[in-house]
Amino acid sequence: MSIRIKLLLSYTGMLIVSLLVVALTAGLFAITATGDIRSFRDFYKVHYQLNPLTEQEESIFLELKYLAKNEPDRLEDGKLLEEYDFKLKTVRAGLYVRRESNQVFESRTFNQPELEHYLPAYDLDNNQIRNTFNIGERFYAYAKFDFRFSDGAKGGVFVIRERSPFGEVVRKLLPVLVILLVAVIVAANLLLYRWITRSVVKPLELLRGSAERIKEGQLRHSLDLRSKDEIGQLNETFENMRKRLLESVELRLRDEESRKELISNISHDLRTPITNIKGYIEGIRDGVADTPEKMDKYVNIIYSKANDLDKLVDELFLYSKLDLNQVPFQFEHADIVGFLDDCIDEQRYVAKEKGIELEWDERPKSAVPVVADFEKLKRVVLNMIGNAQKFTDKPYKTIRVSVRGDSNQVTVEIRDNGIGISPEDIPHIFDRFYRAERSRNSSTGGSGLGLAIARQIVEGHGGSIWASSEQGVGTSFYFTLKRPTNKEGAAVDDDTHSDH
Ligand SMILES: Nc1ncnc2c1ncn2[C@@H]1O[C@H](COP(=O)(O)OP(=O)(O)OP(=O)(O)O)[C@@H](O)[C@H]1O
Ligand SMILES: [Mg+2]
Repeated sequence: MSIRIKLLLSYTGMLIVSLLVVALTAGLFAITATGDIRSFRDFYKVHYQLNPLTEQEESIFLELKYLAKNEPDRLEDGKLLEEYDFKLKTVRAGLYVRRESNQVFESRTFNQPELEHYLPAYDLDNNQIRNTFNIGERFYAYAKFDFRFSDGAKGGVFVIRERSPFGEVVRKLLPVLVILLVAVIVAANLLLYRWITRSVVKPLELLRGSAERIKEGQLRHSLDLRSKDEIGQLNETFENMRKRLLESVELRLRDEESRKELISNISHDLRTPITNIKGYIEGIRDGVADTPEKMDKYVNIIYSKANDLDKLVDELFLYSKLDLNQVPFQFEHADIVGFLDDCIDEQRYVAKEKGIELEWDERPKSAVPVVADFEKLKRVVLNMIGNAQKFTDKPYKTIRVSVRGDSNQVTVEIRDNGIGISPEDIPHIFDRFYRAERSRNSSTGGSGLGLAIARQIVEGHGGSIWASSEQGVGTSFYFTLKRPTNKEGAAVDDDTHSDH
């Protein structure tokens, strides 16, 4: 059963119950006010038959009417009239008898001196025997019978009862009031039903529609339900779920895209040296290398290309293992200054041969301990020094190394005065296979994996890596390493933070 039908049924149930309760309450009130259930029924009789009198009064009236028809003169008998008046008094009514324009009897019940002026004129046909009249604020209902006395004089007998005008109005309007009451209850219920449907059922339908769309894979459609109730909370959770789902789908698509790109890059980078090797081997086979010198040259080229291939495969292998977190890091506490000394010493000679000066900018006077896997860190430093050697165009070439530190970490900078990197390329140089100025790079022969591997290694240390550069002036590469901490978690001291 849908919520809509359940709501409709519950409201209809409430409507019926409230109507019953209203009817019951009205009945109980009427009984309390009038004393018995019959009087309650009389209300309706009185109203519907336009009968102003109760059953008892009516029977007294009928007796008087009978007398008027058959023995009219007895209606001048004061004693008899007193008796009738007494009977009427017990049911809160009074008697009035007139002869021509004279009053024969007036009940003391009324205490109304002007009564006779308000009574209707003689109507011997007795067309209308029941009616009402007002004297000032007071309201009376009566039943009357006009007749002739035996001497031919006109006479009239009235049984009169005073009523509350308010009660009379209510009595007259009772059906209208009841209909109005029912209409109000029905309208209130309908409004409530509409309100609940709007605030509960509609949003639920919207949520269902959204869930259907998600099932069909449309994840970009967001729901704009701002209510603060449980439905609003449900929608918020639902929206979060949709966003997470969208994110994970997008991530998967991005991963897929980057895997495709990786495969195409790898095949491209492998194809170039293989094509070269094939070309030179074909040259040898076809007898192009017909002198021992040519043969020597061809073999050397093939050897160097095979070496490039070997290096590329090696880098790719390392990159993919780092990417999958499959390379364990062997961290140790050691002095970064000593480590950089070794790197500089190792590379200084090669650099010098290329006319490049590789030196400390300002060597720290004492040891600067860091936490690092120095074997892997060497790849980072050597790639940076290698890049500085490759991408340079100045007659006087320098590479400067420096170390700075604060209480938590140590920053290593490797600065060159090379060609620089354009601001558009800077954000991408740490991406795999990214090479700025591709045309130049064909001569330098890099694969574009060096900095991508460096980033993975530095991030594996919990540090960060970045570059700043000015085109034509030079480039600085930076990476950070953590300082070793003592048992209390405080950094082990040295002189780097006082130096700089
Ligand atoms: N010191 C530098 N000066 C100018 N450009 C640089 C410098 N270092 C890196 N680059 C640019 O960043 C690119 C990426 O460097 P990365 O070390 O990742 O690749 P590579 O040196 O081309 O190849 P590989 O290191 O794999 O042999 C380089 O191709 C170069 O365009
Ligand atoms: Mg490189």
